[in-house]
Parts: sequence; C-alpha cells; structure tokens
Amino acid sequence: MNISSTGSSEVSGCRDGSSGPVRNVVLAVTGASGSCYARRFLERASGLEGVQVHLLMTDTARDVWRHELGSDPVPGRYQLIENGSFFNPFCSGSAAADVMVVLPCSMGTLARIAAGTADDALARIADVQLKERRPLILVPRETPLSLIHLRNMTALTEAGAIIAPAAPGFYSRPDSLDDLVDGFVARLLQLAGLAPLDPAYRWNP
Ligand SMILES: Cc1cc2nc3c(=O)[nH]c(=O)nc-3n(C[C@H](O)[C@H](O)[C@H](O)COP(=O)(O)O)c2cc1C
Repeated sequence: MNISSTGSSEVSGCRDGSSGPVRNVVLAVTGASGSCYARRFLERASGLEGVQVHLLMTDTARDVWRHELGSDPVPGRYQLIENGSFFNPFCSGSAAADVMVVLPCSMGTLARIAAGTADDALARIADVQLKERRPLILVPRETPLSLIHLRNMTALTEAGAIIAPAAPGFYSRPDSLDDLVDGFVARLLQLAGLAPLDPAYRWNP
C-alpha cells in the first residue's frame, strides 16, 4: 500500500500539475452502512483541483463496501493510508491534515474517537485533528440511537468535531438514488470547505 508522503497545507504543488497549496483530506471509511456515500465523496474530492485525498479504510469497511457495492474501491487519484501503521504524517500534529471526514462512521469508531483511544491510524488521526483544532467531520449512520451514542456525539461536539448524520434531504426532489447520494455528498464537500454547493441542492423556494 502507498502511504502518503505529503504533510499539510504547507506542501505546495498539485499532482494535477497546477501550482498552489495542496489541501490534504483524509477520508476514513468505516464499517457502517453507506459505502455509496464514501465512493461518491472519493470520486468528487479526488477530482478537485488542489485537493489530495488520502483514503483510509477499516477492515470492516472493506467487507461492507464489497457487500453493498459489489466491488472494491477503484484505484484513482488518491493515496492510501494503512490503518495498522502510525507511520503516516497525519498521525502527528506536526503534519496534521487540513480536514478529516469519517464517512460513514460506525458507532464503534465514533466511541473510540470519543474515548481518545488513538489505537489505530484512524483513531489517532482523528485525535490529532481534535487536539490541533483541525476540522473533523463524522458522518454516523445508525438508528435508533442509544444514550451511549448520543453521549459520545455530545463529547465529540464539545471537543470540536462536527457530527453530520447520514441523513440526506429530500427537498431537492432527487429523482434517483444516485441523485440523493450526490446531494448529500455535495453538502459534505461544502461542509469540509472543499467545494461550493451546487445550486441544484440549495433550498431556493
Ligand atoms: C452490513 C453491515 C452493516 C453495518 N451497518 C452499521 C451501521 O450502519 N452503523 C454502525 O454503527 N455499525 C454498523 N455495522 C457494524 C459495524 O461494522 C461494526 O460495529 C464494526 O465493528 C465497525 O468497525 P469499524 O468502525 O472499525 O469499521 C454494520 C455491519 C455490517 C456487516
């Protein structure tokens, strides 16, 4: 597996040949349902100029992705982070990522981040994002929610994370599942500061 050699927004020069600072985005995928959101986010974000995506998948995420989407992630303009190794720049506050998105975020991973376990690369990078006051967006998918889930989300919100539940809106009147997924991912890209929201998904009565 490739491990990103880039560090933070201080790194200049994009892989697409354009100049300017690169924004390093860690996309962490866990074993919650909703691989389709991660696949679309990966496609969109890795196509953005000046953005370098670093994909991290848990073991369960790979299983669920295969189950829900029928294949593995296709290689693209992104780099891979191995979850079992801490030899990655983003595991240190000295080279923190510009933004981390955990999409979808299982209740198990959410709990580990809330507890500050830092026991694999995912939990450590999230821990670094929080301690460095860098953006951390968690997209949980679970229903109903227990008091433990809610308390963990409260703790994470208090620590500076953004909880953005996988709850796509219907007011844009999506005409397909893909459209629904696109609309939700567009909101996440906006939330992460990576791309302005397509007017098609903005409420405009
Ligand atoms: C098909 C499938 C769907 C799942 N969906 C969810 C889910 O929506 N939310 C959740 O919190 N866990 C879900 N789980 C359970 C998690 O995968 C499990 O808790 C796992 O330990 C999460 O590990 P990870 O966070 O390291 O990926 C699902 C498991 C499977 C096999």
